[in-house]
Amino acid sequence: MTSPALDASPTVTQDLTQQRIVVLDFGSQFAQLIARRVREQNVYCQILRHDVSAERLRELAPRGIILSGGPSSVYETGAPRCDPGLFHLGIPVLGICYGMNLACDALGGRVENATRREYGRAQCQIAAPSELFSGLPDSMEVWMSHGDQVSDLGDKFVTIAKTETCPHAAVRHLDLPVYGMQFHPEVTHTPLGGQLLRNFVRDICGCDGQWQLDDFAEVTIARLRESIGDKRVICGLSGGVDSAVVAAMLYKAIGPQLSCILVDNGLLRKDEQAAVINEFTNHFKADLRVVDAEEKFLSALQGITEPQEKRRRIGHAFIECFKDEALKIQGAHYLAQGTLYPDVIESGAAVDGPAATIKLHHNVGGLPAELGFELVEPLRDLFKDEVRRLGLSLGLPESLVWRHPFPGPGLAVRCLGNVTRERLKTLREADAIVVGEIKAAGLYRQTSQSFAVLLPVQSVGVMGDARTYDETIAVRSVNTDDFMTADWSRLPYDLLARISTRIINEVAGVNRVCYDISSKPPATIEWE
Ligand code: XMP
Repeated sequence: MTSPALDASPTVTQDLTQQRIVVLDFGSQFAQLIARRVREQNVYCQILRHDVSAERLRELAPRGIILSGGPSSVYETGAPRCDPGLFHLGIPVLGICYGMNLACDALGGRVENATRREYGRAQCQIAAPSELFSGLPDSMEVWMSHGDQVSDLGDKFVTIAKTETCPHAAVRHLDLPVYGMQFHPEVTHTPLGGQLLRNFVRDICGCDGQWQLDDFAEVTIARLRESIGDKRVICGLSGGVDSAVVAAMLYKAIGPQLSCILVDNGLLRKDEQAAVINEFTNHFKADLRVVDAEEKFLSALQGITEPQEKRRRIGHAFIECFKDEALKIQGAHYLAQGTLYPDVIESGAAVDGPAATIKLHHNVGGLPAELGFELVEPLRDLFKDEVRRLGLSLGLPESLVWRHPFPGPGLAVRCLGNVTRERLKTLREADAIVVGEIKAAGLYRQTSQSFAVLLPVQSVGVMGDARTYDETIAVRSVNTDDFMTADWSRLPYDLLARISTRIINEVAGVNRVCYDISSKPPATIEWE
């Protein structure tokens, strides 16, 4: 049950989102990236279904419409299309890649399979002056990824940029405010792409760049205060940045009416409980209740080695603990959650949002429904990097704001095989060495997630003069923007050597350390 009054989208942010840009998603892996890039220009941006009607767009009255790329070909039957009426609303439209092909196809041009599929960097030359390329050099590097291209512009489009193999790399319509780019301005491989998007959203669409996170925080806090009134709110803390930012905003809004619950499931990292309590109580004086539930979780996990069964049992135990504690809080009416915009999009929960690409994991499901609270989700409109910036502006410490993500089921899914107190201790010590050494090398912020995994493998070694038959630690460190794909971090050999030596010398029961060099896909970031 979501309380409309507390749902940050669209009511809370109404004042700040008057000037919005919408991205219609045609199945591009980059749709979210486009939205983030637009927001970097201080312009609010939302992602909508590709088939949203022109009528609905008229009601929403965005300042501009961006048609994303996508894997289809416009001439295929069943290819996703947009309502052609949107080109005639008088709202500026920018088609990117597939989006450009759609615009040209809908307005008299022709799209064909290119003789040479173009993928990678290309040099783009300005062919005619236009507002889109205003202030940009005559020649610039762009990133192409397409099999189709516009072969015939019809009589209403003109070419404004070209590359060696793509004669119409960017186009504009003669009568309508419709533009297209065959390349991708949103990716970092188009170094001046930000300026191109800025030209579109600021100059062509006329947005004046009012979307500021500080204003967002102020408006949201005021709104939360007003809607919550004198009721109590419960907030679960996980040690991660999202729940901390939610708690910080609520604390600013309602102070003593907020109660936070930290369930220590015995599966946290080394010293994590103390760090959360410390960071939290140093920054707020909010009511914080720590539930010590190690025993409960470990007995639920006894003898369980199958990953999904581990998750299921942890989920159940979590709901029970949280419920017991929450029911002790008199008059609690709302439950705060750190749902972010990508969660809203990926769960298909956004009004007019793109159809669900259902998120497969992972978070403990069913909590709000089980408990019967109304939900407060003040971060529903934000991307992760915005949440981090917001956290810093709310005064949260960098150590918390930049902490690597940690899965809800905690060390249980990094302790392969049986989860016992002893094996968790081994894992915890090894993990602290991995993270500690990466931090000491100044590489923590340059990696996205770094941790140790305890394998269900014993192997032979020799220590001193004695033969050992001990456990194996795998070190995992990945770099990623979105956690949907990831590559293994190219950590320096001497750092890996230090990690390995320290783990084998300092962690009893471990005689072998491996480095995981798999990317995602086909591997995942976690091992279970
Ligand atoms: P994978 O392993 O699927 O992980 O590549 C992608 C991201 O999700 C995190 N993850 C989880 N987070 N509950 C969570 O809250 C889970 O069950 C879970 N499993 C994976 C993982 O740490 C990575 O950041």
